[in-house]
Amino acid sequence: MRIRAFRRLWAVLSLSALGDWLGLLATSTFAAAQVDNSLAKGAAFGTVIAVRLLPALILGPMAGVLADRFDRRFTMAVCDVIRFVFFLSIPLATLFTDNPALVIGWAAVATFVIEAVAMLWTPAKEAAVPNLVPRARLEATNQLSLATTYGVTPVAAALLLAGLNSLLGQWDVPEWAEATDVALYFNALTFLANALIVFFLIPEISGRAAATGPGERKPGMLREFLEGWKFVGQTPLVRGLVLGILGAFAGGGVVVGTANLYARELYGGDAAFFLLFATLFIGLAGGIVAGPRLVGALSRRRWFGLSIILAAGSVIVLALAPQLAFAVTATLFVGAGAGMAFLSGTTLLGGEVDDEVRGRAFAVVQTGVRVVLMFTIALSSTLVGAGGRPTFDLGPFTVELSTTRILLIVAGVCGVMAGAGALKQMDDKHGVPLLADLWASVRGRPLVKAEPKPVRGLFLVFEGGDGAGKSTQVNLLADALRRAGRDVVVTREPGATTAGAQIRRLLLEGEAVAPRAEALLYAADRAHHVTTVVRPALDRGAVVISDRYVDSSLAYQGAGRTLPVQEVAWLSDWATGGLKPDLVVLLDLDPAVGLRRALSRSGGADLLESESLAFHERVRYQFLDLAANDSGRYLVLDAEREPEHVASVVLERVVELLPAPDRFQRRSDDRVT
Ligand code: TYD
Repeated sequence: MRIRAFRRLWAVLSLSALGDWLGLLATSTFAAAQVDNSLAKGAAFGTVIAVRLLPALILGPMAGVLADRFDRRFTMAVCDVIRFVFFLSIPLATLFTDNPALVIGWAAVATFVIEAVAMLWTPAKEAAVPNLVPRARLEATNQLSLATTYGVTPVAAALLLAGLNSLLGQWDVPEWAEATDVALYFNALTFLANALIVFFLIPEISGRAAATGPGERKPGMLREFLEGWKFVGQTPLVRGLVLGILGAFAGGGVVVGTANLYARELYGGDAAFFLLFATLFIGLAGGIVAGPRLVGALSRRRWFGLSIILAAGSVIVLALAPQLAFAVTATLFVGAGAGMAFLSGTTLLGGEVDDEVRGRAFAVVQTGVRVVLMFTIALSSTLVGAGGRPTFDLGPFTVELSTTRILLIVAGVCGVMAGAGALKQMDDKHGVPLLADLWASVRGRPLVKAEPKPVRGLFLVFEGGDGAGKSTQVNLLADALRRAGRDVVVTREPGATTAGAQIRRLLLEGEAVAPRAEALLYAADRAHHVTTVVRPALDRGAVVISDRYVDSSLAYQGAGRTLPVQEVAWLSDWATGGLKPDLVVLLDLDPAVGLRRALSRSGGADLLESESLAFHERVRYQFLDLAANDSGRYLVLDAEREPEHVASVVLERVVELLPAPDRFQRRSDDRVT
């Protein structure tokens, strides 16, 4: 709301939404009020609704071209003026004729025009929003718009109309000033106000980069139209989005079409129907309002697909619900999933589609949604009564499988497939497991996308307490492999690079730094080491042997310094881009013995060596725990055995891991055997 242009657009949007809802309520009751018998009333109501949907088919596809081609500010303002005029004309028609057929006929024509114009207005508006707010704020903006359009204004419109009804009902007003008429006047005025605001107060809407320069000729309308479809069809992200959105709405259409009968099958009447309906809306609102906070930093593309699966999966549960309480719960999740899908879908479309084609992308969605809704509602409400309720005799059970429930199951399954398809087309985190990612994001720690693992070399790590004899073992192994003609790179942490050496001095020789700073410095050394030494060597097919790696941080900074091990692991994972060793050799040793060895070797203790025995014991057990939890990747050896024995066991294991020699580069010297 701090962004002025958006604040004004939001005001327009709220007014518009209020107008739309009022218009929907008022025109339908207006039409019904013109005739007396109930059959005709139904037909009148139905006609108005149908007329509202029809323009989608005819005009929808062109709407996007207009939204992309012309200045969106003009498009919006002109559309609003037209809507003003036609809304005004509906109640005024009664001044000219008493014939109900003519009045309804005119209402239908006017509604048709208004809807057609709305089809042009919406893509222009949707496409303009991303230009008014920074991308990072787009989701919040959409949240606000959706909450206003579908949460606040329908209620406000209904209350307003009811208020007008009861207020004007007390007086004997002339025919042109009854509640529905007043609602329509008011409605017309909201559109006039909008036109003025958009045109005079939000110049930013036209402030986008011109699609064509002054001298250039624009391509023809048809070309632009075809280009739009081509873009939607050929861009995996957009294709996934459109598929997902349409799938979700198809499911929604079936739910709406079957809801009435379904409520009766649960032995509920109208009350059950309205309860389900209200629950759906509560779920929608909940998903839109609370969704982003719930999933935290989860990839929006994944969120979109998952939301659709949630909604559709819940439809399947709904189909199988044995009683109302069950159905209400499932409906809540249907709503929440749909709300989240709607929000993430709109945000993705707005944020990831170029301004040039954005109007057309929104138009395709808008048209598709209406067509799909119309089709599925009509189809399912026709089919729903058919076929009765066949019961299946399964020995001890009899299952009553009504058409309603079958339709719901089919809709749910289609929805799940659409969601899965969308996930597959759009996924931006290949290789990161989906559910683990979701769970981690909900807990506030999204998993990073691992950098691709080198396919060639072999990555070996030696770990253990101080004085366990790692360097000796590293060298023995390296020599053995080199004798066998392998390209071997020996390295260590910390301090294998120039920057690393400085970090090492800082860590082991200077004054002690705070534990978190220590953890960060080790991670910094590691990040640089992996990028500049380990990965390049692996990429060329070498065997990399590192003296210490991630586990040292988990043991020393985690267990030793008592920082949360999970957090240290996360930090290291980030630093290495997810690179894991193929084998970790853990040289296990009683720290009392190890420290004595280390001190006699170097003469003075470094910072960590001078820590307490309890510290080193925690380190030791952390190493052992890590090994126990992933035993396939670890080789744990008793470091008190003689070095030659240890070395031979290590070599035996490493040889098993070595890929066929031709995948390695042979050294070019004469030691090749
Ligand atoms: P190391 O090079 O094995 O010591 P040495 O000089 O005895 O060969 O490791 C230096 C110290 O760094 C060691 O005490 C453990 C510590 N360390 C950590 O605390 N965290 C880490 O992530 C790493 C790699 C090492």
